[in-house]
Amino acid sequence: MTTYPVDMSLSPEVKGFFDPATNTISHVVRDPGSTACAVIDSVMDIDYAAGRITYDHADEIIAYIQGKGWTLEWLIETHVHADHLSAAPYIQEKLGGKIGIGANITIVQDTFGKIFNEGTEFQRDGSQFDALFQDGDRYRIGGMEAFVIHTPGHTPACMTHVIGDAAFVGDTLFMPDGGSARADFPGGDAGVLYDSIQKVLSLPDEMRLFMCHDYGPNGRDIQWETTVGEEKAHNIHVGAGATRESFIKFRTERDATLAMPKLIIPSLQVNMRAGEIPTDASGRPMLKVPVNGL
Ligand SMILES: [Fe+2]
Repeated sequence: MTTYPVDMSLSPEVKGFFDPATNTISHVVRDPGSTACAVIDSVMDIDYAAGRITYDHADEIIAYIQGKGWTLEWLIETHVHADHLSAAPYIQEKLGGKIGIGANITIVQDTFGKIFNEGTEFQRDGSQFDALFQDGDRYRIGGMEAFVIHTPGHTPACMTHVIGDAAFVGDTLFMPDGGSARADFPGGDAGVLYDSIQKVLSLPDEMRLFMCHDYGPNGRDIQWETTVGEEKAHNIHVGAGATRESFIKFRTERDATLAMPKLIIPSLQVNMRAGEIPTDASGRPMLKVPVNGL
């Protein structure tokens, strides 16, 4: 098993930006010792019915970083999201930084390259991204050292990014009263997700955990920050000693009842290209709908 270089003495500044259209939280993480920062899981706005793309949510993040005078070093995708479109290339164009994702993006590209009948011009080697992370890889944001934990199960490329006492779990976990994300997309696996969650829960109890999504269960206000200790004690799917078997049974039965995310078709086509919108043969931005393909 990989030993991870946890450093609880480092406490980065984290600011969340909630997108009500997709219930996604984008995070800006800043090195307290410099102006360096990273953006985790940005969102591009889409009116899918109209085929219209806009950038209000990304512009808010850009304005925040510019207003602080910070330097963007990384645009991190915790995974290939199926429910919103990444704005990473748009933000990169304005602020710079490198776009990084888990190395198993190649598996995701292979799977959905087939489903969307992408031609040979669609590279399935992850080369659309600036960095591909393996389990245990380290990288720097200013003076901070970050590391990644491979946490598959929701998707094969899911990574948890740990920066000091803050971990960004993507869709590996939700808030304690939200439980966990579905594991029924192509390449997903409930047992593997359970094992990945145990990796996150093996971090120190005081580790801050930042969610990628929150749906405000039971009418509570939207929240996105908790701790390992809180998840271990209270997570409704995996807390208080839930077994692997019980989790697999519950997750599989629940997933069978869930509809496809509203934006899965545009999201996958864009996000497997690191946030670039595909083009047709004439170079015009264009999305496809595979009929009965998902
Ligand atoms: Fe997701």
